[in-house]
Amino acid sequence: MREMEVLTVNGGRELFGSVRIPGAKNSVLPIMAAAVLCRGTVTITDAPVLSDVRACIRILNRIGCAVSLCGTNIRITPPANPGSSIPHELMRSMRSSLFFLAPMLARTGRAEICMPGGCRLGARPIDMHLDGLAHMGAEITEKQDGSWLLRAENGLKGTEIGLRFPSVGATETLLMAACTAHGTTVLHNAAQEPEVVDLARFLQSAGAQISGVGTPELCITGTDFLFGTQYAVCPDRITAATVMCAVAGCGGEVLLTNIRCGDVQSITQLLERAGCSFVPLGKDAAVIASHGRPRAPGSWKTGVHPDFPTDAAPLAAAALLRAEGESAVTDSVFENRFACADGFCRMGAQAQVSGRTLRLNGVPELCGAHVTAPDLRGGAALVLAALQAQGTSVIAGTEHINRGYENIAALFSRLGASVTAAEKQQEVSGMAE
Ligand code: EPZ
Repeated sequence: MREMEVLTVNGGRELFGSVRIPGAKNSVLPIMAAAVLCRGTVTITDAPVLSDVRACIRILNRIGCAVSLCGTNIRITPPANPGSSIPHELMRSMRSSLFFLAPMLARTGRAEICMPGGCRLGARPIDMHLDGLAHMGAEITEKQDGSWLLRAENGLKGTEIGLRFPSVGATETLLMAACTAHGTTVLHNAAQEPEVVDLARFLQSAGAQISGVGTPELCITGTDFLFGTQYAVCPDRITAATVMCAVAGCGGEVLLTNIRCGDVQSITQLLERAGCSFVPLGKDAAVIASHGRPRAPGSWKTGVHPDFPTDAAPLAAAALLRAEGESAVTDSVFENRFACADGFCRMGAQAQVSGRTLRLNGVPELCGAHVTAPDLRGGAALVLAALQAQGTSVIAGTEHINRGYENIAALFSRLGASVTAAEKQQEVSGMAE
């Protein structure tokens, strides 16, 4: 028998109350890796408490960093000579293990990695990371087992790089590599996501010389080293989107605090088209409300920031499963964003995937079912569907969900939902997985 955690949801309730949005997962993870560049202690505050953060700590320990986690504060002290290789099982635990490549290479002149893990959203190659580092002078050797050894004994050199796509991860890798390179690096077509801005602001607080932050043109003048600093992580706009889409789907009224309204504009505009109201209160709070069935907002596409974020696409789809009319969302970023559609259909939704597009035809009612989370945001989307469904749903695969949410059961229970997490015995099939 194998223990596995499942979520049990008794749906059909409206949501009321208030939620403080935690720090951003996709900001704290690259910042933790960037700490390896610093010759001094880095204190990160308002960090979310996630399994991916714990996985990052395991990698930091493995390369010799002293790390202490106290609530939402993480203190990282790199050694004088950090390690330069990450074991395959740690690399494969998440996509964010890739963020250690540039700091190890820049700090030690060497880095040994294999393909990272992460949500199965498509091919997710790392060519832009490797090509950019090669452009900065790294020598790259692909090894028999498919892993890579990168060397830059004399350090990396500043250069001009044009990204063929504004990749978030590749922008972050090259931004970190350039901070202590010899000379100036210009990144064209750089990603502008709030989490990329947050990493740049962290690096600046540690002494990096970066201009153009928040634009597609980043200019970085290398310095000899970065020093220790203290930095507060920006709010997680996708967690905010998760709560807002839950209210849109279930009905109710929720106060969101520690939210940056500018970061979620494309999401609130879509939800307002679906009949929700979103009222900002001051600079870091807002109220989201929805009464009755949502209206189908028609078709829309995801894109790079400031367009509608790919991570919120399954969440918004869940909010529209009972909307009056037809909706369709196309993800222009990943090939396989809507693996959660099967789970939606098991709950009685009319949801169909063709290529990168998910088409929905709203139904008056969903019914509880047994479903399995296919990935992080797809799993959260199934929770949102279960919150609307009449009856009981059981959601397996919560290890995906726990990578990006501190405690999704508590998050929604505090708003009046009935969600519990429990260990469940599972017959281990004789078949190899
Ligand atoms: C980051 O992934 C986020 N993850 C993702 O969030 C997010 O969905 C994504 O950015 C887009 O916003 C983290 O920050 C840890 P990309 P990343 O490089 O960096 C292709 C979540 O749920 N590509 O912008 O992997 C790639 O295949 C996660 O929190 C290459 O072809 O995204 C994809 O089609 C899921 N070659 C597109 O670019 C490369 O070298 C965008 O990927 C790199 C990427």
